[in-house]
Amino acid sequence: MRQASITFDRAFAIGDTDPRLFGAFVEHLGRCVYGGIYEPGHPTADKRGFRKDVLDLVTELGPTIMRYPGGNFVSGYNWEDGVGPVKDRPARLDLAWFTTEPNSFGTNEFIDWCRAAKIEPMLAVNLGTRDGDAARNLVEYCNHPGGTAWSDLRIKHGWKKPHDVKFWCLGNEVDGPWQMEHKTATEYGRVAHEAAKMMRWIDPSIELAACGSSGRNMPTYGRWEDEVLEHTFDQVEFISLHTYFNNYASDTKAFLASPDLMDNFIEEVVAISDAVAARRRSDKRIMLSFDEWNVWYRTRRVRADRVKEGWPVAPPILEEVYSMEDALVFGGACISLLNHADRVKAACLAQLVNVIAPIMTETGGPAWRQTIFWPFAQMSRLGRGTVLKAIVKSESYQASYFDPRGKQDLFYPIDAPYLKASVVSDDKGVSLFLLNRDLEQPVTVTLDARGFGKLKVTEATELRHSDLQAVNSKAEPLKVKPATLKGFATKADTISLELQPASWNVIRLEG
Ligand code: AHR
Repeated sequence: MRQASITFDRAFAIGDTDPRLFGAFVEHLGRCVYGGIYEPGHPTADKRGFRKDVLDLVTELGPTIMRYPGGNFVSGYNWEDGVGPVKDRPARLDLAWFTTEPNSFGTNEFIDWCRAAKIEPMLAVNLGTRDGDAARNLVEYCNHPGGTAWSDLRIKHGWKKPHDVKFWCLGNEVDGPWQMEHKTATEYGRVAHEAAKMMRWIDPSIELAACGSSGRNMPTYGRWEDEVLEHTFDQVEFISLHTYFNNYASDTKAFLASPDLMDNFIEEVVAISDAVAARRRSDKRIMLSFDEWNVWYRTRRVRADRVKEGWPVAPPILEEVYSMEDALVFGGACISLLNHADRVKAACLAQLVNVIAPIMTETGGPAWRQTIFWPFAQMSRLGRGTVLKAIVKSESYQASYFDPRGKQDLFYPIDAPYLKASVVSDDKGVSLFLLNRDLEQPVTVTLDARGFGKLKVTEATELRHSDLQAVNSKAEPLKVKPATLKGFATKADTISLELQPASWNVIRLEG
């Protein structure tokens, strides 16, 4: 049995979690929209075609903000195709996923869906094949009250009140050659600056995120952020980050260590952003929007995922089935995000339904929770508050994580503590998010909670399974689910917890 300890003090805070840290993402990709959130004719669908069974699971999952409509898709999207009478909307070839986009769902339907789900919308504009003009028109269409061509068109389409969308992404992964109209940092920085300027002239209350690198392993990483912010610093509040974890190497220990690279990624982008600020003698701090993150690899490398034959509508692509092992890595990423609550003020689990998603559906059939559903739902429910500086004492192990990019085989050495932890306090007490990455041994964790008075455990769950490859499915929808953690003890002022090997644990302590 390993030993570990966590010391924290109510007065020593990292920062408050912004509600937008618990966001997710809906792209026009595969069955995320069509057959996911929207399926007219489904037994649970309302008159707008919104699946009620999916809405119920989304409510349980607890995302606070939803990014839309892409993703790679947005870099070729004409937003005008998706508004107005559905019968008049054009079908288009989507060159992001080699499918046909029918456009029967668009911006207004998305806003209605967000209202139904009680989630804030986050819209991305096309800075691939289009530029600032299309972006500013979309802001005018969505947010201007009326009396102009674009805002009156929204009213004519049936949405009298402005959508009042606050959070806007300036394009998507423009650094990636796979993107429609991939750009250099200079090209993108200029267009993003000009688009941002006009969007904000229309609605000064909006917040804007510039595209950072689409991965820490991109060859342009670092220089990209520096140059993009050099152009956009005065116009944006956020820079974005994207990460997808993989276990291509079938090395579970390295896979479980990989969220620690997310910590590095965040801290490096903070440093670059602050260096840009320093060059300007500016005290403005650019915040981070981690607006795509998840485990994704099984359905990633196969180029067949970009279905080229027949240009199908909403084919089942990128339908990653998540294992217990994936849920542990996912939990580790939740901890990394929480522990940077001072600078990561928005984040989006990519994606929401069917496409690399916590929720799966059968077209015409049921919906169920994937393994990664649980850590996200727990983080969203119990992660609201002030993240505390947790001093974690734990033995560590050496791992080498394989994260390929193109033809390059990249390995990253990681010194990973077996115990990864985050502590979030609120008015009533404290929530602990704990990952035991040891595959063989339990760990006894002793807590030294300072400044709270006497605390007792009010809720304790563990997520684990004897088979790390166990998955949830339509046939066995709850094969992997949290169970009550029994291994805890309170003696005098100390609480100790016994965490099982390869387990994700959430503990609630109250006075
Ligand atoms: O989320 C799937 C895809 O991953 C998105 O479309 C893109 O932005 C990223 O490469």
